[in-house]
Amino acid sequence: MKRILVLISGSGSNLQALLDMSSQDGYPASIVAVISNRADAYGLERARLAGVPALCLNHRDYASREAYDQALMACIDEHQPDLVVLAGFMRILTEDFTRHYSGRLLNIHPSLLPKFKGLHTHARALEAGEQWHGASVHFVTAELDGGPVIIQGRVAIDAQDTADTLAQRVHQIEHQIYPQAVTWFCQDRLQWRDGQAWLDGQPLPAEGIQVGAN
Ligand code: GRF
Repeated sequence: MKRILVLISGSGSNLQALLDMSSQDGYPASIVAVISNRADAYGLERARLAGVPALCLNHRDYASREAYDQALMACIDEHQPDLVVLAGFMRILTEDFTRHYSGRLLNIHPSLLPKFKGLHTHARALEAGEQWHGASVHFVTAELDGGPVIIQGRVAIDAQDTADTLAQRVHQIEHQIYPQAVTWFCQDRLQWRDGQAWLDGQPLPAEGIQVGAN
């Protein structure tokens, strides 16, 4: 059984998708803990309802980003995870942190990377007049939203879309692609090797596996 630890900052709907997946009979992994940097993150409640240890490590209690990340690493490592999953964890991570978990740290980003790294991705995709938008699961490296992509979920942008309607559809596809990528990892089908993502012994293309409308 693989051990998964999830980091959150907010609602935790992706966490919920992962909790639902890991509670299935025979699933090859379990979520061993959830850590939030914010005490009011609803995801902490979701974890407790699922019987998973949930704790808050508040970044405001630390003098620097480095000090926080060191404390966070110590807290994570107590749980001896095989995989650390960022699910709406709204913090920029230090290089020490990303190096420490390299090859076993995943993130989901709400855009078709490499487009729209950073914040406000839905509004930016609309402003840019894109026809397609979506979300990407990737291995985390020191470069923000820059690590190798594993899977992308695509949604078509409608003329009537607002940032909110688009965000809702992107969220739905996030709840499919994140459990998929985590499952591949837990089945030992997905690896990070030589700076690339590999699935079933083959290097993945730069845009990863594509799902959703095309
Ligand atoms: C998602 O849109 C994800 O792509 C981004 O943060 C958001 C988290 O949403 N990294 P939730 O807390 O999982 O509902």
